[in-house]
Amino acid sequence: MTALSSVLVFAHQLLINTVQPGEAAIDATMGNGHDTLVLAQCTTEKGRVYAFDIQERALEKTRKRLQAAAQANHVQLIADGHQHISHHVRETVAAVIFNLGYLPGGNKALTTQWDTSLAAIEQSLALLRQHGLLLLVLYPGHEPGKAEQEAIEAFVAKLDQQEFQVLRYQFINQKNNPPYLLAIEKLSAVK
Ligand SMILES: C[S@@+](CC[C@H](N)C(=O)[O-])C[C@H]1O[C@@H](n2cnc3c(N)ncnc32)[C@H](O)[C@@H]1O
Repeated sequence: MTALSSVLVFAHQLLINTVQPGEAAIDATMGNGHDTLVLAQCTTEKGRVYAFDIQERALEKTRKRLQAAAQANHVQLIADGHQHISHHVRETVAAVIFNLGYLPGGNKALTTQWDTSLAAIEQSLALLRQHGLLLLVLYPGHEPGKAEQEAIEAFVAKLDQQEFQVLRYQFINQKNNPPYLLAIEKLSAVK
C-alpha cells in the first residue's frame, strides 16, 4: 500500500467524497462497470445513475456486477454514445466520470474519440450541480488517446476560472505515458 493513491483509487475517493445519497450521477464509459458500481453505492437507491456504453458486452458485464452487489435497481444502462448524454439525462448531477480509451481485453478499435468525448464533456459540464465533479481518466499511451489528450487539455485549459477549477493528478516519473486524471469542479450554480 503506497501513500499516494493510484489514479483510479484517487478518482473513486473524489466520487465518494462528493456524491451524496439521493443524488444523480453519470458513468459516461461504463466498460466493465467498476465506476458504475461506485456511483451506485454513493447515490444509493434514493438516487439514480446513468451509465453509457456503445458495446453490448459492457452492458452485460456491468449488469452482472451491479446485480451481484444488489445495486442494479437505480442504475439505467444506456446503449448509446455519451455524445448523446443530453438526450437521456434531464436532471442535475453530482458527478460524471469518463474512463476513456478502450475496454480492457476488448476491441481496441472501439476506443473513445476526441470529438465525441469533447461533445459529451461540454454537455456534462452543463448538467453538473454547484461543486459537482467531472472526472476524466486519460490514456495518452495509444494514438487515439494522444489526440484525445491534446483536444481535452486544450479545452479544459480555457475554462473560465470563475466557473470551474481544474486539477491534474499525474505520476510524472512513470514511463510509457501512463493514465492520469483531470478533475473539474463546477464553482458556479447551474444556470
Ligand atoms: C476504459 S473503458 C471504461 C472502463 C470502465 N469504466 C470500467 O470500470 O471497466 C472505455 C469504454 O468506453 C466505451 N466507449 C467508447 N466510445 C464510447 C462512446 N462514444 N460513448 C460511450 N462509451 C464509449 C468503450 O466501449 C469502453 O467500454
